[in-house]
Amino acid sequence: MAKAVILAGGFGTRLRPLTNFIPKPLVPISGTPLVQRIISTLPPGVDEIIVAAGYRSHDIEAYFRENPQDVPVRIVTEHKPLGTAGALWNLRERLDSTFVVLNGDVINSIPLAEMERFHREKGAVATISLWEVEDPTAFGIVRLSDGSSITEFREKPTREEAFSNLINAGTYIMEPSIFDHMSHENFSLEREVFPGLTDGRLHGFSFSGYWIDCGSREMFLKAQRLLMSMEIPGIEKNARMDGCLLNRPVAVESGARLMGVRLGPNAYVGSGVHIGEGSVVENSAILSEAAVGRNCRITNSIICPGAVVLDSTVSDSQILGEPSA
Ligand code: GTP
Repeated sequence: MAKAVILAGGFGTRLRPLTNFIPKPLVPISGTPLVQRIISTLPPGVDEIIVAAGYRSHDIEAYFRENPQDVPVRIVTEHKPLGTAGALWNLRERLDSTFVVLNGDVINSIPLAEMERFHREKGAVATISLWEVEDPTAFGIVRLSDGSSITEFREKPTREEAFSNLINAGTYIMEPSIFDHMSHENFSLEREVFPGLTDGRLHGFSFSGYWIDCGSREMFLKAQRLLMSMEIPGIEKNARMDGCLLNRPVAVESGARLMGVRLGPNAYVGSGVHIGEGSVVENSAILSEAAVGRNCRITNSIICPGAVVLDSTVSDSQILGEPSA
């Protein structure tokens, strides 16, 4: 598998207003941008990463200029959104051997090298990662025959229509021959391309561990909790914490100043953040350079970089603030 394509051109509307200022692939989860987390899962055989970008692609370019990777990264910008299929069609001349495609907003434990071996054994045109969920109504489900051959797809089924709990987990391994089954008119892989390949050429690869689509506030915070419990981050040395009560997991980055704050569980405090006395932060992320006044209560929320929150309660569905710069 020589090339990896990261689909990173969406608008990230569910994470607004955060994504008004940061494209979703650069949203930091427990301190590390999503796209960087995705890159860290690539197997050693990958020798080029292509980021199919669109919305705020200049920010993505700047990120990779400032953060060189071990393998070359090429950003290909779509001037209008091409959809998941159009984005690949746009890259077809560069994709001349087996390649992996990854959604730019998912964290998961897919063993990609094992998935590639499986893909080759099955001789598939495309192999789709599959994840089991209790309620598949928000996802695309598949029907399998002979254990792995995908015979049917359905996007966002109702409870009654849901013939399976296995959902498309958004990571694919593909052969260049996939382009024989596509054209410039295709927009969606899931709706237009995959359903035409359900005659034995499409296989499903199930895995265990974790899978979280981080595209909404609830899922972002769920991913943060999981990552903090796996990575066990802590308090950076040059963060200043006076009289704080910690309920782990919590992470506090450098330059943060917290006075008499009750923090956690699942609280991430970015670099340069100030939080005033008597405030409580629970199941939330306060992103870099934000300021929270005294006696505030922040729960189940993401506070944007540079935002200011004064004397208030922010809970549940809020993703607050405007960057000051
Ligand atoms: P919402 O607006 O909140 O639904 O988010 P989204 O459109 O950014 O993400 P969605 O979950 O719909 O898409 C899954 C992945 O595909 C994300 O990583 C997106 O960045 C990416 N994606 C979606 N549409 C396009 C597109 O037109 N071009 C490219 N290159 N990537 C896309």
